[in-house]
Amino acid sequence: MTTVLAIETSCDETAVAIVNNRKVCSSIVASQIPVHQQYGGVVPEVASRQHLETINVAIAQALEQAQLDWGQIDAIAATCAPGLVGALLVGLTAAKTLAMVHNKPFLGVHHLEGHIYATYLSESSLNPPFLSLLVSGGHTSLIFVKDCGIYETLGQTRDDAAGEAFDKVARLLKLGYPGGPVIDKLAQQGNSQAFALPEGKVSLPGGGFHRYDASFSGLKTAVLRLVQQLEKDGGQVPVADVAASFQETVARSLTKRAIACALDYGLDTIAIGGGVAANSGLRKNLQAAAIQHNLRVLFPPLKFCTDNAAMIGCAAADHLSHGHTSPLTLGVESRLALTQVMKLYHSLE
Ligand code: KG4
Ligand code: ZN
Repeated sequence: MTTVLAIETSCDETAVAIVNNRKVCSSIVASQIPVHQQYGGVVPEVASRQHLETINVAIAQALEQAQLDWGQIDAIAATCAPGLVGALLVGLTAAKTLAMVHNKPFLGVHHLEGHIYATYLSESSLNPPFLSLLVSGGHTSLIFVKDCGIYETLGQTRDDAAGEAFDKVARLLKLGYPGGPVIDKLAQQGNSQAFALPEGKVSLPGGGFHRYDASFSGLKTAVLRLVQQLEKDGGQVPVADVAASFQETVARSLTKRAIACALDYGLDTIAIGGGVAANSGLRKNLQAAAIQHNLRVLFPPLKFCTDNAAMIGCAAADHLSHGHTSPLTLGVESRLALTQVMKLYHSLE
């Protein structure tokens, strides 16, 4: 059994957790959302400063909540890519310093690999191979999970990520930041069939459409045009109906692609990860389609859909059990493909 203290500071949550393999001993998430709300989005420099102010308290709280001391921690991990460079640096530097001071192995973790591992926290029997639908603020992809650290990207968005589309549509509907949770709540009072919107098909050069890739930028523009037209017509914009129609379109688009991909590759399980995995419309659509096709869909508990450090610790514990550790010279990277994860590690043997 491996107990890992993990740190996540890739964007606007200062998170520290202690996990024992797939069991969460403590999980602290200090959200900066109220700080960034006044700017309508995340301000990178402000995020770094907030992480600096919060990180030490969050580490102390994680140890206290788990009722553990440093002698009971086997390794220290932190998200090192992808994300905001200044924000990542705070968590990574803290983790490397702790690893040095307490003489523990250190592991850098890919943020998206963490989102994949979030499902393991509630489904401890889950093992590869399976399909992962990653839907966060910065990424939307269908990943073939083959083994610890071994991934193949089968589908992705050609432009905006699903979460980004939620945030942009919320902004144009003047609903504030972050958009996903507000649209999700509002959509429950609206009619999802009120407006027909494009589901974001991607054309292939030889004709037809890509089975797994999607494009959400056109959908966002369609919502903008719809709102402009409704305003021109002089009536009140039925915001709940627009939100419900938009959410339904995203959910249908993601569901169709994920199901097609799982069936084509003979994978019987789809694990969802990332902030948009919290979306009620997506959960409903995917669950209904999965039953129809005899597939299993797994959603992490809501608190582990959005950014947290427990998912990072879970990924690190698995890597450590495979003999992987990272050098203390490891740096942060704002972009890093999930298929490049193994370059973060060297083998203990
Ligand atoms: O995974 P995450 O916490 O951070 C990134 O790694 O990006 O995802 C944040 C994204 C934001 O775009 C937010 O609007 C979206 O997830 N989100 C949601 C919901 N909760 C968060 N989108 C749709 N429905 C939700 N309930
Ligand atoms: Zn994330």
